[in-house]
Amino acid sequence: MGNIISGKEVSTALRAKIREKSLALREDYGIQPGLAVILVGKDPASQIYVRNKQRACEELGFHAFEYKLNENYTQAQLLDLIGVLNKDNKVHGILVQLPLPDHIDSQVIINSIDPSKDVDAFHPVNVGKIMIGNYDFLPCTPAGVMELIDSTGTDLTGKNCVVVGRSNIVGKPMAMLLLHRNATVTICHSKTRNLAEICANADVLVSAVGRAHFIQANMVKEGAVVIDVGMNHDENGKLCGDVEFDEVASKTSYITPVPGGVGPMTITMLMQNTLHAAERKAASRK
Ligand code: GUN
Repeated sequence: MGNIISGKEVSTALRAKIREKSLALREDYGIQPGLAVILVGKDPASQIYVRNKQRACEELGFHAFEYKLNENYTQAQLLDLIGVLNKDNKVHGILVQLPLPDHIDSQVIINSIDPSKDVDAFHPVNVGKIMIGNYDFLPCTPAGVMELIDSTGTDLTGKNCVVVGRSNIVGKPMAMLLLHRNATVTICHSKTRNLAEICANADVLVSAVGRAHFIQANMVKEGAVVIDVGMNHDENGKLCGDVEFDEVASKTSYITPVPGGVGPMTITMLMQNTLHAAERKAASRK
């Protein structure tokens, strides 16, 4: 049986450090990290995420600015609101919860956020910086995955790392972060041939597919580190990842569970990005 990586434990330890730095920033500079979270409409999953972000802000001594807007809020109104938040000195991070309703163009909205406040790292300027390897913000989910891998003490240099999934939010930036750590990286997706064979060659396998039971034991190398980014529901409505955990775990050296693996890390990394934005603000005042 592989060792289970506890996202809860790694996240709790990191949050304690963030809280300490947040309080120090307040004491030394009178700056309280501020995060604006914008939710348009009533998507139930998004409502839960937004509530969790608000709670994390309370726990860490951040100021949460919450905007719960109705479904009919227009793109022009949203652009106006972001314009105001871009100029507000108390707001260090701006997060627009995705998905947005169909009448709003998400990319136009993301492009309107001041890159120095883009704590999701979705703005093209920040995406470009990630590509170069000189970044202000790390995208939250891939950054959380890196923390989990690092908690195992795995040296990534020269390792075969396989990322399954090529989304802008997870797969693509994940591959870049692994590449910056000198791994040999393969990105797989729905059109990949010989998927099982490629996965079975991975020293580190990161699955971000979004399908229950997708990663089976024959796709996993003996002793691999397996990170499951999936958040799915199985036939019984139970929350599960992409990985067939019970049969895969025994082959791995380390594996993340769902729930309790990557999930708890994502908001923690968002908080870390917001703290860094506030710290940069303090440094620019010196
Ligand atoms: N919706 C699902 N995940 C995310 C995320 O990481 N950021 C934002 N803004 N919306 C999301």
